[in-house]
Amino acid sequence: MIVIAHLSDLHIDGGQRSIERTRAVMDYLEELPYDLDAVLVSGDIADHALPAEYEQARRLLASRHPVLVCPGNHDERAAFRRCLLGQPGSTAPVNQVYRTADFVIALCDSSVPGKDDGFLDDQTLAWLEDTLAQAPARVPVLVGFHHPPTPLHVPFVDGIRQFGAERLAAIADRHPNLAAFLCGHAHTPAATTFAGRPLLVAPGVVSTLRLPWEHRAHPEDHVHLDQPPALAFHILDDEGRLTTHYRCVSD
Ligand SMILES: [Fe+2]
Ligand SMILES: [Fe+2]
Repeated sequence: MIVIAHLSDLHIDGGQRSIERTRAVMDYLEELPYDLDAVLVSGDIADHALPAEYEQARRLLASRHPVLVCPGNHDERAAFRRCLLGQPGSTAPVNQVYRTADFVIALCDSSVPGKDDGFLDDQTLAWLEDTLAQAPARVPVLVGFHHPPTPLHVPFVDGIRQFGAERLAAIADRHPNLAAFLCGHAHTPAATTFAGRPLLVAPGVVSTLRLPWEHRAHPEDHVHLDQPPALAFHILDDEGRLTTHYRCVSD
């Protein structure tokens, strides 16, 4: 059994709220009586992409579990690379693969410099196709990125989702070992499908999206600040079935 924790949207901004909520989630994971197979953090790590924010995030995300991070629209590629990955700053897409004998996580950079919506460029799609082709047919590949590639029926988020996703769907059609898509950005726990696979959205650590049917008077009031931080656990069993649990953490 493979257990992957999935959190998203820390938005570390120098304020106590983002720091305390991220710390609460990471402390919860550290105290689990189980070694996780991975912890995926699906973007919007630093709210303003400042080096000090990334340094704070790096300290908060230090863990006994393997931690994987991908950038979101609030992140900046060069600073993300330097501070979180220990790599030279480069503005090329931050695409990363984590391979084990039993599963692969392919993390695609859906950010577009200077924009809030997302897109997987030609370089990223070619990298993903190659990564899927290299994985043995029996090994499930989880594909992660920040922006959901489908509407979630929340206009505010749908307007800044991942566009051009038919190209990603075409790749999925060619690779049956692609087991699921994992993303963040929406700040709400959600589950749907994309290209015939589960598309699982992690809740936001820093805040929770207010759904259109939860408010009438203030359509521009996009977030709940009174909801606790939360995360997802994705479980891959020996039959290749994926199960997701969502868990709130007291902050
Ligand atoms: Fe976010
Ligand atoms: Fe985002």
